[in-house]
Amino acid sequence: MSSSQLALAIELLSNHEVVCIPTETVYGLAANLYSEKAIAKIYAIKGRPRTNPLIVHIGRKEDLSLLCSEVPAPLQRLIDRFWPGPLTILVEKSAQVPDSITAGGTRVGIRMPNHPLTLELLQSLPFPLVAPSANPYNAISPTTAKHVQDYFALQIPLILDGGPCQQGLESTVVGIEKGQVAIYRQGIITTEQIREVVGNVIDRCGNTKELTAMAIDNQAQAAPGMTLKHYSPKTPTFFCENIEKYKEDSDGKAFLLFCKKNPLLPQEHQYLLSEKGDLNEAAARLYQLLHELDVQSYRQIICERFPDQGIGRAINDRLLRAAGGIVSQ
Ligand code: TXA
Ligand code: MG
Repeated sequence: MSSSQLALAIELLSNHEVVCIPTETVYGLAANLYSEKAIAKIYAIKGRPRTNPLIVHIGRKEDLSLLCSEVPAPLQRLIDRFWPGPLTILVEKSAQVPDSITAGGTRVGIRMPNHPLTLELLQSLPFPLVAPSANPYNAISPTTAKHVQDYFALQIPLILDGGPCQQGLESTVVGIEKGQVAIYRQGIITTEQIREVVGNVIDRCGNTKELTAMAIDNQAQAAPGMTLKHYSPKTPTFFCENIEKYKEDSDGKAFLLFCKKNPLLPQEHQYLLSEKGDLNEAAARLYQLLHELDVQSYRQIICERFPDQGIGRAINDRLLRAAGGIVSQ
């Protein structure tokens, strides 16, 4: 970042403005944690209900002690292993964290992102930043400055361009329940990686069956902010267990696949996320590809199920939410 861009970002953020920042996961819409005015702007720009909490972003691990009363030992071990990085911890908040960013709850979500520009910005500011993903409520998360430009060019005074996000999918959200680590949102740090550090974990993310049942019951609220219809393209999107069933019915459809094209479907409408079968690469490209497919003239986007392991679980979670929980067998 040029020093003038950094200076402008500092000035805007210090004056109740909202600035778009890059992170290693997705772009964020950032505001001063202590500015109610700027926080209100974030909710207004995103069209997001005030019942969805915001994540606090810090530039130094030491800043954590100001924001929470205590960090339980298993979460501290995860911090030591994964920060700076795509892991958000939920901890009991201190008095200085405003209720407006926790949806009135006692826990606050905190992470230290791993992006050089944003770390430099955070380390230059005298306050932490709150930052949800920089997309309208329920739209696809942005992984380039151009995505944010397309969404919000007229509403944000500054978009810091940090290049395409390296990881491309949101952080993993964890907390503590009766001394044990619980996972609330699948993300870049996998369940397997968390288990390696802390042993057994409680999985609060729901599997495909549970999420689908939730959609059918229309009880879409698994955790605050985790509504089922989420991360969605405008083009009707479906999550599919068996894409071959479309072999006689492929007109107007784009097929979003992991690593291999299907010989029974039109070759030119199949899009692979990773030819070499690398789930990390697939995660990094997922939102970019959804953005690209959404502006073409397809009538439907059909997504295949990814292997249910490692980051594949987070990818399936996002695909299922993009499809509003609709699974076609
Ligand atoms: O990777 C990320 O986490 C990105 C980048 C910009 O850092 N941020 C992001 O924020 O994805 P957002 O607001 O789009 O999603 C945050 C989610 C909420 O929807 C909610 O599920 C959970 O994190 N969360 C945050 N604070 C919480 C709290 N106090 N209690 C419960 N859940 C919380
Ligand atoms: Mg989001």
